[in-house]
Amino acid sequence: MTTETLLDPQQLIHARVQLASEIDRGSAVLSSRTAEAFLNTARHPFVPVFYRNTGSTYVPWRITDGNHDEWLRQVYSNQALVTEVDGVLADDAEPAGQTGAATSSSTMPRLMADMLDALDIRTGDRVLEIGTGTGYNAALLCFLAGTQNVTTIDYTAPLVLSARTRLRENGLEPTVLRADGAGGHPAGAPFDRIIATCSVRRIPQAWLDQCAPGGVIVAPIKGTLDGGAVACVTKLADGRAVGRFLATPAAFMPLLSGPEQLLAIPEQLDGAQRSAAISGRVLDDFQFSFWAHLHLAPSVVRRGRQVDGQHSTTLYDAADGSAATITDRPDGPPTVTTAGPRDLWRPIEAAYEQWRAHNRPRREWLTVEATPEGQSVAYTAPDASVSRWSL
Ligand SMILES: C[S@@+](CC[C@H](N)C(=O)[O-])C[C@H]1O[C@@H](n2cnc3c(N)ncnc32)[C@H](O)[C@@H]1O
Repeated sequence: MTTETLLDPQQLIHARVQLASEIDRGSAVLSSRTAEAFLNTARHPFVPVFYRNTGSTYVPWRITDGNHDEWLRQVYSNQALVTEVDGVLADDAEPAGQTGAATSSSTMPRLMADMLDALDIRTGDRVLEIGTGTGYNAALLCFLAGTQNVTTIDYTAPLVLSARTRLRENGLEPTVLRADGAGGHPAGAPFDRIIATCSVRRIPQAWLDQCAPGGVIVAPIKGTLDGGAVACVTKLADGRAVGRFLATPAAFMPLLSGPEQLLAIPEQLDGAQRSAAISGRVLDDFQFSFWAHLHLAPSVVRRGRQVDGQHSTTLYDAADGSAATITDRPDGPPTVTTAGPRDLWRPIEAAYEQWRAHNRPRREWLTVEATPEGQSVAYTAPDASVSRWSL
């Protein structure tokens, strides 16, 4: 039995209208073109099987597993749907499930809508997407730009294969390629619009080079900390790209490029101890953690966990072996234990003080500029003073 035979067409129309209204309620301003794209593009053909997270395991869920009304409600709700865990597609998973980390998902529709709105696609625009995943966003791009104008790239061969098939079964024939999206798609350049649905520490130079003057790039920027933000930049005639960040928080999966290194963060630090001005939990606030990430070297990684019922955060920089563990205490200020040449918690304490002194700037108040020489983020305070960080 297929999905289509289990669902009646009226129910499917109702589900799509529901999703478009839910997106409209949550988005800043949903353009009529974006709303039209969601109303005309079904999600369920791209996620016939997705994982439910039970806490310890990801269990595959297909419409034939019973209660298909609930299955459909999940598919057309404002939720990300995980479709790959540690490289295993939900379609191929054992019924008992899969443990590991999510490696592909269909993004939260409201976030997709905000990114598509920012991309501002006109029919006929040549569009490049990095991170095909299920193919649902590519289908929306086809609606907005025209199917022959869309190229989408994913790193993983099985994802590319299933997305290409599902797009074709739905009458769409964009170019779907298996490649490392960090390099863009030189053979198809220039593009009028480039969108990434995986996060990068900075915008890869290849995307800037392959974007036509006047073109737009929408890309999630994220480091090791939880808070990410979506940059929307316009390429200028002089080769620079300038823009801002969207208000919507975005913690996308990272763009994987080349052999990934699993960094072993030290388990226990025996270095010097001091009192901390703030708890490591400040990094769980998405607004602050994006600001904080601007103050950290790209090589720093974070691990947060509970130790004896108390929150503990470790920052580690493999570049010089510096590490800091910040541990909450029930009876006093948190402590910092440091190792290596630098105290990695000091810049975060200073960043927190600065963030509060500026009345907690929101991510959408920051601007971004990319030149061939470097990329930076800036905040202009009401007194016209400017803070600037390299990406
Ligand atoms: C959040 S998912 C994309 C969601 C997708 N746009 C959709 O509509 O279903 C992120 C995707 O980025 C892909 N990815 C990660 N690193 C990549 C790379 N270097 N090049 C291309 N794709 C990459 C992952 O395989 C994953 O499918």
